Amino acid sequence: MDKKPSLETIVSLCKRRGFVYPSAEIYGGLNGVYDFGPLGSLTKQHIRQFWTNHLKKESDNIVFLEGPILGPTPMWQASGHLENFHDPMVDCLNCKKRFRSDEMDLEKACPSCGVKNWTDSRQFNLMFKTQMGAMVDQSSDAYLRPETAQAIFVNFKNVYSTSRIKIPFGIAQIGKAFRNEITPKQFLFRTREFEQMEIEWFCKAENSRKFFEFWLEARHRFYQNIGLNPDNVRFEAHKPEDLSHYSQATTDVEYKFPFGWKELEGIADRGNFDLTQHTKFSGKDLSVFDEETKESYIPNVVECSVGVDRLFLALMCDAYNEEEIDGETRIVLKLNPAIAPISAAIMPLIKKLSEPAQKIYDSLKFKFSMQYDESGSIGKRYRRQDEIGTPLCFTYDFDSENDNMVTVRERDTTNQTRISIDTIEDYIRKTLQT
Ligand code: GAP
Repeated sequence: MDKKPSLETIVSLCKRRGFVYPSAEIYGGLNGVYDFGPLGSLTKQHIRQFWTNHLKKESDNIVFLEGPILGPTPMWQASGHLENFHDPMVDCLNCKKRFRSDEMDLEKACPSCGVKNWTDSRQFNLMFKTQMGAMVDQSSDAYLRPETAQAIFVNFKNVYSTSRIKIPFGIAQIGKAFRNEITPKQFLFRTREFEQMEIEWFCKAENSRKFFEFWLEARHRFYQNIGLNPDNVRFEAHKPEDLSHYSQATTDVEYKFPFGWKELEGIADRGNFDLTQHTKFSGKDLSVFDEETKESYIPNVVECSVGVDRLFLALMCDAYNEEEIDGETRIVLKLNPAIAPISAAIMPLIKKLSEPAQKIYDSLKFKFSMQYDESGSIGKRYRRQDEIGTPLCFTYDFDSENDNMVTVRERDTTNQTRISIDTIEDYIRKTLQT
């Protein structure tokens, strides 16, 4: 299929097949929050694993961290989030709906009610605030993190002094982030609760340009390997006048979503802004000693930050295909086998053969993400697996009893061949590696 699927097509597939549901749907949903169903959570696990493996392939000098979701007020003062993490907002005085004013033509009427009666535009902080402990005063204020990065910065010295690791090195983290987006939209693209995969690479200032280029290339390799169509991915450097206050260089990785080219990942040379700020606000020295120059310095940081949910959406849009086969339309998700929620399905041709087929399934279920499927005609079962992106289906039939072989059916080509039951494990492993 050359035509990209519409966003509605992807939303509907995600709901129908148990990838993604609106959150708390039985209570009417929660705007900008989604639940990942059985297949969605498997796909996300595979995305996280793919990202982690990619980092390990790129460098041996990367360690992982799990910071908390809650962070104290001074930390968000130091990071600049309390002062600067705003979007401009307007309200419609007629219907009380709220919009981002940078996305609206305020000369025009409200798109919701058709009346033109706007408030002035004002700044709205995107952080979720909460209270910790039983005392309700300012000292108990805490915030849900709007990015995972800050836990990495505030732990830099802990990690450096306990991990026997030398600069340059990276600290990576995967975890939830929260932003009270004024207008969450486009399904998983802009939500209020989402997940980030971030790496902060610490290096000397004179090497930060070199490492920025290194990470640009590394992230290019990542997107190639994960299987996104290269025509749908581009790297867009920010113009100097558009850079954030802390950034010396930023490039966005953009994906061509059904609603246009949009940011998927940000790659930034952040200078030494973060560690300098945390040194200032905490009063703790976050510099390191250089054995060569015999001087202390605060390292620079190169950051790569991508949203798991946004990448999930890009992968689903990219993989979705509708194809004509024997006069019928099949929906097939041509996901990278390593990302597909189910790596292989085991099927008996008919229910009578379920016992030996189940045995094969049992021998593989702890090694791979497997599904056992015996209900419906074999054709229907293949279509079901196509629609959720399962790269391989193994069918146990009457001949299997005698020749100890099964039919393997490939998702992308629909080709079928016979292989020995003993080689199924290898076959799956090879497919996952390609
Ligand atoms: N630490 C840097 C940082 O957080 P960002 O550009 O604000 O930078 C990084 O966010 C990535 O996180 C984005 O490229 C996107 O993939 C994801 N992201 C940000 N806000 C999001 C939202 N509201 N919903 C889903 N994903 C989001």
